[in-house]
Amino acid sequence: MCDYYEGGALDEITLVENTTGWERLKLHYRILAGVGTRDTSSTVLGQPVSMPIAVAPTAFHRLACDEGELATARAAKAAGTLFILSALSNTAMEAVFAEAASPRWFQLYIYKDREITLELVRRAEAAGAEAIVLTVDAPGLGTRERDTRNRFRLPDGLAVENLAPLGKGQLPEGQGSSLAAYVRENFKADIGFADLDWLCGSTRLPVVVKGVCRGDDACRAAEYGAKALVVSNHGGRQLDTAPATCEVLPHVVDAAGDLCEIYVDGGIRRGSDVLKAIALGARAVLIGRPVLWGLCVAGEPGATDVLSILRRELDEAMLLCGCTRLSDVSRWLLAP
Ligand SMILES: Cc1cc2nc3c(=O)[nH]c(=O)nc-3n(C[C@H](O)[C@H](O)[C@H](O)COP(=O)(O)O)c2cc1C
Repeated sequence: MCDYYEGGALDEITLVENTTGWERLKLHYRILAGVGTRDTSSTVLGQPVSMPIAVAPTAFHRLACDEGELATARAAKAAGTLFILSALSNTAMEAVFAEAASPRWFQLYIYKDREITLELVRRAEAAGAEAIVLTVDAPGLGTRERDTRNRFRLPDGLAVENLAPLGKGQLPEGQGSSLAAYVRENFKADIGFADLDWLCGSTRLPVVVKGVCRGDDACRAAEYGAKALVVSNHGGRQLDTAPATCEVLPHVVDAAGDLCEIYVDGGIRRGSDVLKAIALGARAVLIGRPVLWGLCVAGEPGATDVLSILRRELDEAMLLCGCTRLSDVSRWLLAP
């Protein structure tokens, strides 16, 4: 399980560089800025959040603790922030969204079978999801050698619960990673802009495109109807040697920042990293593994702790940088 959560694709170069990229950026703080109380609040697609730090969609939370996604949803609720539920959760979306507060979004993969994909969207709408996050960087699964070596499987009793009623709840048996086999068997490999177009026309919910690496793609996704984009390389789990997200974020912001909201994830580990992402033009960041580690250590209170530590660090970074509000922050903070 540790390897499944921690690992990345192939040599894990992107995995490492995501984190070191944020570390290398330096904060050129202002002095004597007269900062009193800081305000970390913001909005995502018009919905208020107490801080620009959201829970990224990650699969299989019941590997971390028995309460799984219910614990994560409650932790995000306590933190007053956005929770994005993975399509590949171990708990059905209806149960999770009943525990989650607004904003609650559903992350979707496009299945080969369009009826299955549509059924997931319909159920998400009915269960109270307020946006669909379409992940576009996984037409196939990047080779994760740790999972191949460990022959990754779900333990007995755990399933891809959202897909169970649709006959796709089990990971196939066989050589190597059973998740890789599942993706090969079920995800649409030739996903294209036509699929984004189809999705935007099939739901009343706003569509967020997750997995953007380039400015030209960002513009095109916005033209095809995306209301927001996530600059992401899936936490270094898909294409190894894809650039660190902090490197590409400014290009995506310059290309499409006027067209839609832009979020970023990958390797964000400290509140100071969050402030750097905001300085580069992100509206919010998503956090993947740290929340999973919190769940592993202590379930819901562990995830809650992770989110409050990040909030505290962001607040401290704002104080020390001379920023009262997130809107005070822009690229000046990263330049001498
Ligand atoms: C264990 C694990 C499972 C993930 N599952 C999904 C998923 O089901 N859907 C998705 O869009 N992204 C998934 N991701 C990617 C995350 O949404 C996010 O992009 C990434 O974790 C951010 O990097 P970080 O973990 O360094 O914060 C997963 C990441 C991890 C670590």
